[in-house]
Amino acid sequence: MTRKFDILVIGAGPGGYIAAIRAAQLGFSVACCEFNAYDSQEHEPRLGGTCLNAGCIPLKALVASSEAYEKTAHSLSSHGITVNGVTIDVARMQQRKEEIVTRMTGGIQFLFRKNKITLLKGQASFAGKTETGFRITIGGNDGKEDVVAQKVIIATGSKARHIPNVKVDNVTICDNEGALKFTEAPKKLGVIGAGVIGLELGSVWRRLGAEVTVLEVMPSFLGSADESVSREAAKLFLKQGLRIKLGVRIGQAKLTEQGISIAFTDDQGAEHLLECDKLIVSVGRVPNTDHLNLEAVGLQTDERGFIPVNDHCATAAPGIFAIGDVVRGPMLAHKAEDEGVMVAELLAGQKPHIDYNTIPWVIYTTPEIAWVGKTEQQLRSEGHDYKTGMFPFAANGRALGLGDVEGFVKMLADGKTDEILGVHIIGVNASDLIAEAALAMEFRASSEDIARTCHPHPSLSEAIREAALAIDKRALNM
Ligand code: FAD
Ligand code: NAI
Repeated sequence: MTRKFDILVIGAGPGGYIAAIRAAQLGFSVACCEFNAYDSQEHEPRLGGTCLNAGCIPLKALVASSEAYEKTAHSLSSHGITVNGVTIDVARMQQRKEEIVTRMTGGIQFLFRKNKITLLKGQASFAGKTETGFRITIGGNDGKEDVVAQKVIIATGSKARHIPNVKVDNVTICDNEGALKFTEAPKKLGVIGAGVIGLELGSVWRRLGAEVTVLEVMPSFLGSADESVSREAAKLFLKQGLRIKLGVRIGQAKLTEQGISIAFTDDQGAEHLLECDKLIVSVGRVPNTDHLNLEAVGLQTDERGFIPVNDHCATAAPGIFAIGDVVRGPMLAHKAEDEGVMVAELLAGQKPHIDYNTIPWVIYTTPEIAWVGKTEQQLRSEGHDYKTGMFPFAANGRALGLGDVEGFVKMLADGKTDEILGVHIIGVNASDLIAEAALAMEFRASSEDIARTCHPHPSLSEAIREAALAIDKRALNM
C-alpha cells in the first residue's frame, strides 16, 4: 500500500532535518528522504547534509585542532609556558573530526525517532500530482517505493562548483569533500578562490605548516565584507604567511610527478605556473536539483539553477516549498534552518517571518570575521545618512588577557534615528559576539540601546558596547 504523509521533506541537511522536526512538533505526519552516502555497516544514509558531513562541522573541527596546534607551538611563551617538540598527528586529528561528525549525524537519527519522523532511505524524484498532493518516487538500495504527500519541502542543498581545465579527483585536486580528508599537511597548497572555504581551509593547512597560495579572480579581497574588515584581514593574513594573489585568471591544472602545476595569468597579464602538492577548488557552490524531475510538477529552475521561491519559500507549484542552498539567499546552514522552521510554521497556519538582513555571516579564520546587516560601502552607495563607531580589541582587557588583541568592532547606525544598520567584527570569538548584534538588529535597537546595556567585565562583549558608545564619540576606554 502506498504510504501517505502530510509533509515530505526531500533532503536531511540543516534545512530539511530542522523543517521535519518543526513540522512533527506541530502535529503533522512527516517523512524525510535522504540518499547521501550509505554507511556500509549500518546501511543507513548519513543525515545532516553538507553541513554535518562535508561542511561546517568537520571544517570547524579541523579549525579548532589546527588553532590548538599553532597556539601550543608558537604562542604560549608569553604566558611563561615552554613547550618543546610539538607535533601534529594528522590522522588522529582526522579521526577526532570523524568522531564528531558521526556523533552529530547519529544525533539526527535519534531526533527523527524521538519526533516520529519516517526516514525514507533513497533518492526522491517527483512522479506527478495526485488529487490532494504529490506522488514521489524514492529510489534506494532496496528498490523503489512511491509515496504520497500533501505538501513537499525541497531541501536538496548544493554541491561544489568546478571550473574548466581543473579536473577535481578529490585526491590531489579537491573540492570541499576531498580537502577535508587530507591525511597529512601538504608542503605546498594551492587554493583557487579566496572566499569562505578557501580562507578557512587555507588557514587550517597553513597553521599545520603548509605554504599556502590562494588564487582569486576578483581584483579586490573579500568584497562582501565591510571594507575596513577586508583591509584588516588582508593585512593580518599576509602577516600570517597566506599568499593571496588577486585578479588572476586560471589556466590549465596538470598532474605532475610532484603534484600539480597550475597555469595562471596575474593582474598585469604575466603568465605563471604554481607548483603544489595539493590543490583546493573553492569557487562557490551550485544548487542541487539533479534527479528531482521538477517538470513532473510543473517546476523549473532559474538561469543559475536555483528553484524560484517567494519570501515564504513557496514555489510556483502550490503545496511545494523549497528552502536552504537550493533557493536564493546566502548559502548558510542557519539560513536553511530558519527557512525550514518558517515553512513548517506557515503550513500550521502561523505567521512566521525571516528578516534576511539580520542573518549573520561568520568566517572562521584567525582572527574570526563576523558581520550582520549592511556594510559601510553599501550604505555609502545607497546615499544613507549613517554614523560609525569603532573599538579595537587591543583596548579590551579580556582580549589582552587572552593574548588575542587583533581586530576591532565596527558599528554603523542611522544618522538620524540611531537604529543599528550593521555590525562588523574581526577578532577573537567574533562568531559568538555577533549574536548580540543580530539580536539587537532583530529588535531594531539603536546604538544607544547597546551603549546603555550593562555588559559583563572583563569580557570581549564590552568591545561591542564601546563601539556603540564610539558612535556618539563617547567610548570610555579609548
Ligand atoms: P545540504 O546541507 O546540502 O543538504 C541537502 C541534502 O539533501 C543532502 O544530504 C543531500 O544528500 C540530500 N539530497 C539531495 N538531493 C536529494 C534527493 N533527490 N533525494 C534525497 N535526498 C537528496 N554554513 C554555515 O552557516 N556555517 C559554516 O561554518 C559553514 N561551513 C561550511 C563549510 C564548507 C566546507 C561547506 C561546503 C559549506 C559550509 N557551510 C556553512 C554551508 C552549509 O553547509 C550549507 O549552507 C548548508 O548545509 C545548506 O543546508 P541545506 O539543508 O540547504 O542543504
Ligand atoms: P565563495 O562564494 O565564498 O567564494 C568563492 C571565491 O572564488 C570568490 O571569491 C570568487 O570570486 C572566487 N572565484 C570564482 N571563480 C573563480 C575562478 N575561476 N578563479 C579564481 N577565483 C574564482 O564560495 P566558497 O568558498 O566555495 O564557499 C561556498 C559557500 O559555502 C559560501 O558562499 C558560503 O555560503 C558557504 N560556506 C560558509 C562558511 C561559513 O559560514 N563560515 C564556510 C564555508 C562555506
